[in-house]
Amino acid sequence: MLRPARRTLQAAEGAGWDRLRGVAGTAVEREPEPVRFADMQVRHLSMVMDIERRSYPTPWSERAFLSELTQNAYAHYVVALRGIRVLGYGGMWLILDEAHVTNLAVLPAERGRGLGDRILTELERRAAAGGCRRMTLEVRPTNAVARALYAKHGFVARGRRPGYYSDTHEDAIVMWKDDLGSGEAEGEPTAPEVPR
Ligand SMILES: CC(C)(COP(=O)(O)OP(=O)(O)OC[C@H]1O[C@@H](n2cnc3c(N)ncnc32)[C@H](O)[C@@H]1OP(=O)(O)O)[C@@H](O)C(=O)NCCC(=O)NCCS
Repeated sequence: MLRPARRTLQAAEGAGWDRLRGVAGTAVEREPEPVRFADMQVRHLSMVMDIERRSYPTPWSERAFLSELTQNAYAHYVVALRGIRVLGYGGMWLILDEAHVTNLAVLPAERGRGLGDRILTELERRAAAGGCRRMTLEVRPTNAVARALYAKHGFVARGRRPGYYSDTHEDAIVMWKDDLGSGEAEGEPTAPEVPR
């Protein structure tokens, strides 16, 4: 069994805290490296796949990501990095003035700390910079966390795609955000279904 001091250190590392060792060998915590964003590259895919598999009942294959990165001229994917470690990612297709979000996931141990929020903001920023005026995405009605995140960002539900998800045959809720970059959205945000 681990001694408490060691466990504290491991928990700190899990939370992304770097460690320093003082001259007497005592552990000292310091601020975690800041999270930065970068274009997703093929070299990120093993870490992306690890997150993908932990995030979805029917994960995308590595080949699907590879095809997005190398074959799809409309695709734009970002990773959130701490050092060289991928903590989360998001992707979208930029088609004329519309951005269609295709994927967004955060490492389970990093959830609930604002990272999903930051990745979505980064996608919106990049889409707006690329000339997109609107953003759309599909979400499962049962995914209360994602729906709350999208509502917070001003996405509004504007329709359903019946049986969209082939694994559970769930409908997809189609959400839109207009006026990308202005911080304004049309209509009322949908209320989250489940309180935290
Ligand atoms: C959805 C996901 C990306 C959110 O990432 P995250 O880093 O945990 O989210 P954040 O900490 O940035 O939270 C942002 C907002 O999401 C919502 N949210 C986050 N955790 C929540 C929870 N446990 N319950 C309800 N809402 C929650 C809140 O609106 C929150 O804003 P607030 O903190 O101001 O209340 C993450 O849960 C995930 O990877 N899920 C699995 C993959 C997935 O479902 N992707 C979306 C597919 S449509």
